[in-house]
Amino acid sequence: MTQDEMKKAAAVKALDFIDNDTIVGVGTGSTVNHFIDALATIKERIRGAVSSSEESSRRLEAHGIEVFDLNSVDVLDVYIDGADEVTEHLQMIKGGGAALTREKIVAAVAKTFICIADDSKQVPVLGQFPLPVEVIPMARSYVARELVKLGGDPVYRQGVITDNGNVILDVHNMNLTAPSEMEEKINGIVGVVTNGLFAHRGADILVTGTKAGVSVSK
Ligand code: 5RP
Repeated sequence: MTQDEMKKAAAVKALDFIDNDTIVGVGTGSTVNHFIDALATIKERIRGAVSSSEESSRRLEAHGIEVFDLNSVDVLDVYIDGADEVTEHLQMIKGGGAALTREKIVAAVAKTFICIADDSKQVPVLGQFPLPVEVIPMARSYVARELVKLGGDPVYRQGVITDNGNVILDVHNMNLTAPSEMEEKINGIVGVVTNGLFAHRGADILVTGTKAGVSVSK
């Protein structure tokens, strides 16, 4: 099985968690793209989706799945999204695709966060993957200096503007052994919109594609 086949296997398994007549929270990325394609096969039995990015919205709509504004949705049972890293405690780094802020918002609304990933994303401690931080453009240099004070090495992601019109700093070498505390500290820097640590609100269920098949853990 290739890495992409493992992503696809996890994505297809996530269909088991979709109830009839519901609106589904949908994340962003290559694993989620497989999920959107799988969701299209059961589109007649769902009401539609809330999306965490323009890219996912376009793919959902191309499949004829209605995309709802989050403000018009009271209840979201599940949110399905990938991760760049995930621990056994189901805390994650996300934002490799620059969609972290909307992902965090939709995840906050959803009752259950289901993370879908291939097994290369599982790590004992977060932080090998550079931590994405979404920043208001005029605050970029200030925020970078503050991130250095927290022990990180921020790198400006050149040429990337988020769906919210902001920029991304990817922070290397950050000590993330206490991820909830670091999530709060970084979010406390003026000019930070949010950071890609999903520690306070981690996943509830992890669906992992492996060479031996798909495993589900809570
Ligand atoms: C996008 C994300 C993605 O979930 C994350 O980057 C994983 O992507 P992929 O499924 O392509 O490996 O957080 O902002």
